Amino acid sequence: MNHFNYRENRLFCEQVPVRLIAEEVGTPFYLYSQTTLARHFNAFDKAFAAIPHLTCFAVKSCSNLSILKLFADMGGGADIVSGGELFRAIKAGIPGGKIVYSGVGKTAAEMKYALRNDILSFNVESGQELLALDRVAGECGKKAPVSLRINPDVDPGTHAYISTGLAKNKFGIPMDQAPELYHRAAGLDNIRVVGVSCHIGSQLTEVSPFVEALRKVKKFIAALAADGIRIRHLDLGGGLGIRYDDEQPPEPRQYAEAIAAELSGLECSLIFEPGRVLVGNAGILVTRVIYTKEGPVKKFLIVDAGMNDLARPSLYEAYHAINACDDEKRPRIKADVVGPICETGDFLARDQEVPDCGPDELLAVMSAGAYGFSMASNYNSRPRVAEVMVDGDSFRIIRRRETLADLIRGEELA
Ligand SMILES: Cc1ncc(COP(=O)(O)O)c(C=O)c1O
Repeated sequence: MNHFNYRENRLFCEQVPVRLIAEEVGTPFYLYSQTTLARHFNAFDKAFAAIPHLTCFAVKSCSNLSILKLFADMGGGADIVSGGELFRAIKAGIPGGKIVYSGVGKTAAEMKYALRNDILSFNVESGQELLALDRVAGECGKKAPVSLRINPDVDPGTHAYISTGLAKNKFGIPMDQAPELYHRAAGLDNIRVVGVSCHIGSQLTEVSPFVEALRKVKKFIAALAADGIRIRHLDLGGGLGIRYDDEQPPEPRQYAEAIAAELSGLECSLIFEPGRVLVGNAGILVTRVIYTKEGPVKKFLIVDAGMNDLARPSLYEAYHAINACDDEKRPRIKADVVGPICETGDFLARDQEVPDCGPDELLAVMSAGAYGFSMASNYNSRPRVAEVMVDGDSFRIIRRRETLADLIRGEELA
């Protein structure tokens, strides 16, 4: 459930009409509902109340400081994949002891930064990374806490670009290589084995792949224990899907029940790294129609947001529902909603039923809170858009729109 609803034909975010915000901040902009964010965090975190666990928000899905702080204030930690995300997490007040660090290409500088901040776990993805971390930790006079990220070779049944737990994916360590690497890790001077991690993909709409992965990892943990390697936490990653169109993803409660049913005999706490399920339907992208155009075979709505603002449709052919902000019942036409960018791949919707809107009208691109702003770029020298948070009957800008001066910051006229 989210707090983007129509009242008397106009779209509201909580108690605030979307149009009012557009008039004050201009378009395009990302708009988040704080009540929805908090509700989603609670729904997920409380679903695991009976199990010792930590919910580490996947910063990559939406990395605005205000959103990180909101989850941190609710007890959440962070799942990061770069030094930049670590910087954000710390700035938002997330203690190092609640931060897990995933990713296949951590550099020595990033490792040092994370060691200085005493993070909870390095989720190590290869033998070379393990040895590099041992060396860097030695130089820093620290023992690095490590979980190896296991690749359980489970098909998450999702888009190829966001499946991560298959043998052919670059992520994690194959199950058959992992025992040897754990033994090596246990023997390294500057490494402390703390856990096992596993993330099989994103936008999963069934629980069965999660259960299949958990069963495999649980057996693996039991084998490690028999060999004298004790695992203190199991990080099950993120990946729970949301409804963009007509998907029927499991509720966090159903996901938690399915996980809980598999836990007997497992004597470790759990870590989760949810991203999309917390923020996806808590945010929209508001854009204005600039022109309409009728080609020989298609109709186009040309809007002021492009693939640099929301990459998902171009990148994954992802679907986002598009609604008229000022007229819920506007008749729909089949059209492409395209941006101003000089790329044929610049579209927010293709051959989709969209409101029959004309110049100056406002459109809401729904379910844009996850992998929206955080994937935005300055392509075509377009300043990145503002981010706005509504809380009840008020709103605040949580990231100002970039200026033209921002575009050339750091550049030299050489
Ligand atoms: C290691 C890791 N953890 C967590 C996530 C978050 O996934 P989601 O947003 O689907 O919950 C991702 C996303 O790709 C990831 O790579």
